[in-house]
Amino acid sequence: MVKIYKEENYEKLSEKAASIIASVVVLKPDCVLGLATGTSPIGTYRKLIGWYEDGLLDFSRVKTANLDEYRGLPGTHNQSYRYFMNDNLFDHVNIDKTNTNVPNGIAGSVEEECKRYDKLITDLGGVDLQLLGIGRNGHIGFNEPAEDFPKGTHLVDLTESTINANSRLFERKEDVPHQALTMGIGTVMSARKVLLIACGADKAQAIRDSFYGPITPHVPASILQLHPDVTVVCDPAALSLTPLA
Ligand code: GLP
Repeated sequence: MVKIYKEENYEKLSEKAASIIASVVVLKPDCVLGLATGTSPIGTYRKLIGWYEDGLLDFSRVKTANLDEYRGLPGTHNQSYRYFMNDNLFDHVNIDKTNTNVPNGIAGSVEEECKRYDKLITDLGGVDLQLLGIGRNGHIGFNEPAEDFPKGTHLVDLTESTINANSRLFERKEDVPHQALTMGIGTVMSARKVLLIACGADKAQAIRDSFYGPITPHVPASILQLHPDVTVVCDPAALSLTPLA
């Protein structure tokens, strides 16, 4: 079941998303959070940090597994997703860093790394809540539009549209990696709860196609229509092509 919230701006959207994550942490202090990068969740992480600083949240027993990582970037690179997570959340709350997991973008064997990551998630007992952003083409994690829905962690070739969109964060477009390791759609669908956030008009088509269109691997997020517990939090611009506009 998909529940969609329309929040008036980024601030409110971030607060709503953070309150859903906080509720999971409060109810299950040793929960497993599936986390996401991108600009969309930055405000959500900021709210969680604020509530931690106010003594309302305790991350000491929380474990995390991130969705994806660029192939070829070490965790020390300022555009790696490991760096992003440390910088935007982990360094500011009382989480034990050894309980935080991001695929290793520089692992010698991609195949071994994918197997290791899938096993790690299984050994953690699965993901309690998976946070997602969405790409302009409907991708989740780095699961790009394809002919099928990949199950487990795998290597992907990024599409031109994703490379272009993500190049804004790199000094030069040539610096954007062309490949990434990503959790599969099967793993995302196994999460007990899914929370997707989207803001801005450039996400409007992806939101409409994902939640008001047919379920197809050409729009990877559309499979979420089959998940029993999905919450989507959007600003009005992201909902502008839907009946909720
Ligand atoms: C990247 C990430 C996704 C993210 C997407 C949208 O491709 N791999 O997880 O959802 O960007 O990012 P943004 O929130 O910056 O628009």
